[in-house]
Amino acid sequence: MAQSFTPAPWPRKLRSQEWYGGNSRDTIYHRGWLKNQGYPHDLFDGRPIIGIMNTWSELTPCNGHLRELAEKVKAGIWEAGGFPVEVPVFSASENTFRPSAMMFRNLAALSIEETLRGQPIDGCVLMVGCDKTTPSLLMAAASCDVPSIVVTGGPMLNGSFRGERVGSGTHLWKFSEAVKAGEMTQDDFLEAEQSMSRSTGTCNTMGTASTMASMAEALGMALSGNAAIPAVDSRRRVMAQMSGRRIVQMVKDDLKPSDIMTKEAFENAIRTNGAIGGSTNAVVHLLAIAGRMGVDLTLDDWDRCGRDVKTIVNLMPSGAYLMEEFFYAGGLPVVIKRLGESGQLHKEALTVSGQTIWDEVASVRNWNEDVIRPADRALTDQGGIAVLRGNLAPKGAVLKPSAASAHLLTHRGRAVVFEDIDDYKARINDEALDIDETCVMVLKNCGPKGYPGMAEVGNMGLPPKVLRKGVTDMVRISDARMSGTAYGTVVLHTAPEAAAGGPLAVVQSGDMIELDVPNRRLHLDISEAELTARLAAWTPRHEIATSGYAYLHQTHVEGADTGADLDFLKGCRGNAVGRDSH
Ligand code: FES
Repeated sequence: MAQSFTPAPWPRKLRSQEWYGGNSRDTIYHRGWLKNQGYPHDLFDGRPIIGIMNTWSELTPCNGHLRELAEKVKAGIWEAGGFPVEVPVFSASENTFRPSAMMFRNLAALSIEETLRGQPIDGCVLMVGCDKTTPSLLMAAASCDVPSIVVTGGPMLNGSFRGERVGSGTHLWKFSEAVKAGEMTQDDFLEAEQSMSRSTGTCNTMGTASTMASMAEALGMALSGNAAIPAVDSRRRVMAQMSGRRIVQMVKDDLKPSDIMTKEAFENAIRTNGAIGGSTNAVVHLLAIAGRMGVDLTLDDWDRCGRDVKTIVNLMPSGAYLMEEFFYAGGLPVVIKRLGESGQLHKEALTVSGQTIWDEVASVRNWNEDVIRPADRALTDQGGIAVLRGNLAPKGAVLKPSAASAHLLTHRGRAVVFEDIDDYKARINDEALDIDETCVMVLKNCGPKGYPGMAEVGNMGLPPKVLRKGVTDMVRISDARMSGTAYGTVVLHTAPEAAAGGPLAVVQSGDMIELDVPNRRLHLDISEAELTARLAAWTPRHEIATSGYAYLHQTHVEGADTGADLDFLKGCRGNAVGRDSH
């Protein structure tokens, strides 16, 4: 066991006893009402009450099997002497929520934090899967600091279309570009639709869902091996049951997120993200989770820790395989072991198991060296997220080198500017658009405040007349995010964003832009005086919402460079009910 953690004495009085302990009028009120579900009296004897925080929703199809999986979690909790209560929580579906699921990550985190604090819950199982569900529940758990364990729903089975391995999202983008280029018919595209989603579960690429499942495991917040087990594999159900057993002991030991999610754990997660070729979305999510935990994590930590990490996991969108094959090869524990062997892991970091992360992975084996490559056959030697700075991104921007084209990593080109996503949609297919493959596409007003919600539109499709030449990549710059399933030489999260008056807001078509990834530079080639004059004359393109959640979001959301959380939600408020927590 890691030396920094000493289990609390057991038995002791848990917080749920403030509702259910004793025989006062209030206790009888709380206990009596719960008994209407048929619970015997002896279950209220002080045993840990475990909230199964379930993001199941039929409109979050990636999590559509979590009701069934929760039954296995419950079985584990009963077996270990706990008392499970399943609690449906806000479920931000990536593929349906408008204007963007990201706009609701913070709202979900807020509502779940208050649910955890305001209810008689001693510990919780975070049942997550789809992109935003994992960070939102981790943010809530961090702010409350109650013992918590993550159970993800697991990825879908491999997609397959006419003998070709088909990855969620990745092939949606590929096929749609092929249709635009005249290389695929619309009928074939329709036929491919069902082949992309063969089973329940999350996207089967190393997209954001798989990345965040991997981040949860690398942070130590999920049992080792959790991330890659396919949704329909019987071992996913075993994992759920084992996690149910484990959370009961975590409550007895008082093993909390603050014991696990330390700065070292975040550095382990950043390096793991580089090794798996993970999503750029992990940047904003980990910054936000760290912000809730009170851990001082910055964009510079991403560049510092990830810079020399080799991408060894050969999964789409950076590579060739899918999550099913990653699981068969040994999954994330093999990757973490490799980081440990190369001196890139804080081996003593504690996990939910009560063991160190190194203890968990030291004896695992790699069963397929084409899926999890040896270091000398890495997909890329610098697999981390590149953090760019310059007069176009004073507070930073990110790019994923492993998903970019090598020949574009150093590039100077003429800007073709789209003022917002509607402007882009209105003009991108226009044959008269003055653009070729040497240009730099610039998209504004798609950041956290601007879209609103920082939509995944940064990998904007190329103009058809460029695609028809067989060109598949161009430099693109925006303040938006990009789907973790997407690829390309795409500069994202540019901060400050255009809607907040960042320099991106004043780029004009015809300006020259220099991208220099090796030197981490993003430069708008105009004089300082010209830039200052343009910024002084700038006015916002869009009005801020005046009511509803959109108002709360737009008036309080922070920049992507610090995680795009709401400013008043940062920090750990603990689980005590009282004035300080509200
Ligand atoms: Fe839900 Fe990909 S859209 S996991």
